[in-house]
Amino acid sequence: MWEAKLQPAVINFNACISACKKSEQWRWALALLSEVWEVKLEPDALSYSAGISACGKGKQWQRALALLREMWEFRLEPNVINYLAGIRACEASDLWTRALDLLESMLGARVDPAAAESPDEGWYVHDLEAGGPKDVFKHTVLVALLQQMAACADPFTFIDMHAASGVYDLSSEETLQCRMFERGVLRVSHAVDRSDGGLVADYLAAVWRCNQALGSSSRALSLYPGSPALAWQWLRSQDTAVLFEAAAKPYEALRRSFSLLDRGVGPRLSLQHDDSYLRLSFGPWPWPSGRQLVLLDPPYDSTQSHNTWNVFALRRLLQRSPSSCVALWYPLVDQEKVAGLHSRVQSLAVGSVLVAEMWLEGSWPRGDALQGSGMLVVNPPPALHAQLLAALPELRAALRATGSRVLWL
Ligand SMILES: C[S@@+](CC[C@H](N)C(=O)[O-])C[C@H]1O[C@@H](n2cnc3c(N)ncnc32)[C@H](O)[C@@H]1O
Repeated sequence: MWEAKLQPAVINFNACISACKKSEQWRWALALLSEVWEVKLEPDALSYSAGISACGKGKQWQRALALLREMWEFRLEPNVINYLAGIRACEASDLWTRALDLLESMLGARVDPAAAESPDEGWYVHDLEAGGPKDVFKHTVLVALLQQMAACADPFTFIDMHAASGVYDLSSEETLQCRMFERGVLRVSHAVDRSDGGLVADYLAAVWRCNQALGSSSRALSLYPGSPALAWQWLRSQDTAVLFEAAAKPYEALRRSFSLLDRGVGPRLSLQHDDSYLRLSFGPWPWPSGRQLVLLDPPYDSTQSHNTWNVFALRRLLQRSPSSCVALWYPLVDQEKVAGLHSRVQSLAVGSVLVAEMWLEGSWPRGDALQGSGMLVVNPPPALHAQLLAALPELRAALRATGSRVLWL
């Protein structure tokens, strides 16, 4: 452009800085960003987000944060993309407390993180996983938690921060795409007698009860209940369910599922078509005080930085309601990531933390790396540890899983 005596505009610089980001050339990205000033132009939010991301990719978190500071100095208000790029830069260097602080500043500045995503467009579709081994493990632990909560007569609230559709049709195009339920709930159904009274049998019986409640007359399982539909079976008339789902399609499916499950005489139901993390940040919380069981079951594949958000949500929840029982599902991707999550939660010093994990055979058909299923429970009910220790060997055998463990952090 210079040779042709054309003066480049900011948009041309931005394209070059983005190219540097993609090819992981953070030095070039920074040089181009300074050059914008030299030619008497002013970088915009896009120039900075590309620069911050380039530094993040190069593990240059100090430089990434310096760019964010520079934006404030030049009175250029960072937008959600700038903040998220900064958060990712901190995460990439394992500086999770800084990532958390940045998330707090973003929310404090009332920058809406949802603006970075467009719900439904390319969002996670849980139907692909429904009834698969990871779901079975997660839902068995959830059933144990629900049983313990319902063992006491006082009311409790079940808060599902990521409810998804509620119930899944096992003959739909999506569930048949990966047929995960064949390696999950169907294996358990063949291996376990649902009348034998143990935790795995109770989970399985709940899956069948949901099929019957929704009028399935088939002798084979045709529906799979997700976390909200399973929880519904343990809630009593004094209890409440608050179910969040941010994306429109699963929310509509959730509404339809509960129009059939909720007969209006049982527990109180509150369906929230909302981003649960934001609701948590900006309140008011739509649930009563008292005993609470909170489930966080995020998709881990959106543009949000889920690990930072989850630790942030745990901290917020437990600051406001220190005795809540909070369960967080996480994929077992690699040992380092899992150990990182454990130590982050430990350092929050929020209460006792029980962890249950199961390693599953084979890999996911899309070549994904999600190899196992983990559940971390803050403030677990006292009997949960023994209950899981007793039940996991049976579940492991039924799922043909390669290993499992239960431990206190
Ligand atoms: C893994 S699925 C949940 C599955 C469900 N808990 C179950 O066990 O059946 C994750 C769901 O969370 C939704 N989601 C993602 N981010 C969210 C947020 N911030 N607030 C509420 N829902 C969210 C996604 O649209 C998706 O439907």
